[in-house]
Amino acid sequence: MKTPVSTPQAATKTETLPTIAILGAGSMGRAILSGLLAPNIYVEGGIRVTNRSAEQAATFDNEPRVTAFATSVNPEANRDAVRGATIVLVAVKPIMVPDLLDEIATALEPGALVISVAGGVTTATLEAHVPATISAIRSMPNTPSKVGLGVTGVCAGSRSSAGDLDLATRLFDTVGDVLVVPESQMDAVGAISGSGPAYVYYFMEALTAAAVAHGLTPEQADLSVRATFRGAVELLAESGETPTELRRQVTSPKGSTERVIAVFDEADLPGIFVRATAASIARSQEMAAGK
Ligand SMILES: NC(=O)c1ccc[n+]([C@@H]2O[C@H](COP(=O)([O-])OP(=O)(O)OC[C@H]3O[C@@H](n4cnc5c(N)ncnc54)[C@H](OP(=O)(O)O)[C@@H]3O)[C@@H](O)[C@H]2O)c1
Repeated sequence: MKTPVSTPQAATKTETLPTIAILGAGSMGRAILSGLLAPNIYVEGGIRVTNRSAEQAATFDNEPRVTAFATSVNPEANRDAVRGATIVLVAVKPIMVPDLLDEIATALEPGALVISVAGGVTTATLEAHVPATISAIRSMPNTPSKVGLGVTGVCAGSRSSAGDLDLATRLFDTVGDVLVVPESQMDAVGAISGSGPAYVYYFMEALTAAAVAHGLTPEQADLSVRATFRGAVELLAESGETPTELRRQVTSPKGSTERVIAVFDEADLPGIFVRATAASIARSQEMAAGK
């Protein structure tokens, strides 16, 4: 079956979303917030965000569309933020999620939708810590959401309606692509797109080090690696070709690129990717079991 995919709409589509509270406006919470602050997105009833520190809350002082709360100043901050909110986006560290949900449970609006971005926290855990009338959705965004080019995996909980899933999809559409998957595939989504930017940067680090090892200055190495990755990805997008075809176009028979690919194959790079991402999935399963 073809996986439902929605494409980035943020640049073109006007979207209206209901009142949203972002609990934990850290790295990922702010990435999603950046999509909501795009000029073509209208959040009816406004955006509330929470942090622990007053310093973090103060960073929103010049943003009239955001009401910021700090738990260090107001112990009721999270409960105040979710009162009247239709979407409650939970973006604190995974270990903190159950306690946070217990804290806000009785302040949630009866029809509110709880959406968690916390890695490895299952919909069963989310549902166990909110009232039975509240629907919970699990998601896995990635850091390119900060520039509107994220990929977010989304899965329904046992109480989620099609409308809930649609609302979550429209939310994450503001920061990139959305994949709707069954929960059994969420750890795989985390291993591929959630952590994926780290693999790309690791490759870039390794190629930069190789460039320096072969005599380029660090500045030359940095420029050539950045430009090569960016150019390759842009060419992929604009040409509409597959990665396999574009690689073939660079790899002349008996040429130098062919030797590079042979070294990668000898090291079983495809197998390394399977093992590495399997390690990620195993770790997510451990975390879901509380280890
Ligand atoms: N970073 C990624 O690539 C990524 C990708 C996918 C999913 N995620 C998920 O996103 C979640 C957040 O990760 P992150 O990297 O954004 O972490 P982060 O930058 O540390 O942000 C966490 C935020 O939560 C706030 N916070 C902590 N306890 C709170 C409480 N009781 N009430 C209100 N706010 C509270 C912190 O505020 P203070 O700063 O004031 O303490 C901080 O701003 C995690 O569950 C992670 O699994 C992250």
